[in-house]
Amino acid sequence: MTTRDRSSRPARDVSSRARISASILDADLGNLAHAVRRVEAAGADRVHLDVMDGHFVPNLTFGAKTIKHLRRRTQLPFDAHLMISEPGRYIDDYLDAGCDSVTIHVEIEEAIAPTLEAIRAAGRAAGLSLRPGTPIEALEPYAELLDIVMIMTVEPGFGGQTFMGDVLARKAEPARALLAHKLFGAEVHVDGGVNRETAEIVGAHGVDVLVVGSALFLKGRDMAREVRLVRALADEGYQYGRNDGVPPTPPDRMVAFAALPKHLAQRLMVAIEAVGVPVVMLRGDGQVNPDGIRDYELLVPILSEPAVAERFTELRGTLIADAERWRAGFAAQASPADPASGGASGADHADHAAG
Ligand code: DX5
Ligand code: ZN
Repeated sequence: MTTRDRSSRPARDVSSRARISASILDADLGNLAHAVRRVEAAGADRVHLDVMDGHFVPNLTFGAKTIKHLRRRTQLPFDAHLMISEPGRYIDDYLDAGCDSVTIHVEIEEAIAPTLEAIRAAGRAAGLSLRPGTPIEALEPYAELLDIVMIMTVEPGFGGQTFMGDVLARKAEPARALLAHKLFGAEVHVDGGVNRETAEIVGAHGVDVLVVGSALFLKGRDMAREVRLVRALADEGYQYGRNDGVPPTPPDRMVAFAALPKHLAQRLMVAIEAVGVPVVMLRGDGQVNPDGIRDYELLVPILSEPAVAERFTELRGTLIADAERWRAGFAAQASPADPASGGASGADHADHAAG
């Protein structure tokens, strides 16, 4: 992709909650590279890759090799949807191909947990998908290994089918509950029949990622406009269907959780990241410490803040008290009553105070 193309790509709507994952199943399969560039230029957030083996589903599409070649064509994240009977046998190929997430089906006969563990061990997001007729309870044994639950609202195998609203109504809340162990990054995906007519219902069920296929590749439709429409309608569905008319919060919006001297801020950051919540640490513009350095701010994803507060308010309080003692120690050191300490540098003191 040349720079020119990048500047022509519509900016991603960071104020939106709904994510659009574009399925290229109904694109010109003879020119998938072009299809991937088109969905990126249209403002899709991700590419949804439908892998079918002609066995688990009555259709055959493409595999890891094709995905590996497509990987060079775009920066967009790749969500692999493996509708194959033996994902465990090929999982390394899909990880090697550069998939950011891999979702397998719960109806396979092969062992499921080892494959989910392999996906996570590779630092990717692991998901389970289920056919419309499969009860959501089938996923319960694997809940702790999941980052993604993908609800099929059509029978897997083909694009362009009719959306099954009753299936989503039955499974959306239990799917969310299965991911409650995750403080950050839990995603409920809906796949099948999502378009401008059904997006609002999907949004009203709190779905995070909408897979959109044939609706993007319909002749005569402006793909970028379709992406904007589906996203806006999903957010509206969320706003009025489950958020009391309040506009939804984008999942990657960050909020300040603490401001502390650097060495103490780092301790809190390590503790929060240990439970899977990303933290951004920035030198703030608040309190200047005796060592001349301002406090550092810790930012956490706004949707994770309540869970972070629940777990880390006490530690934050302890560190705030430590910071006070540390500052007081500095002041004591610098006080005229002890001319000998005038030579000591702030940093020496900081190390000493931090033990
Ligand atoms: C179907 C696939 C879907 C499909 C979606 O088995 O898993 O991802 O491509 O296409 P539409 O949006 O046309 O239903
Ligand atoms: Zn799919």
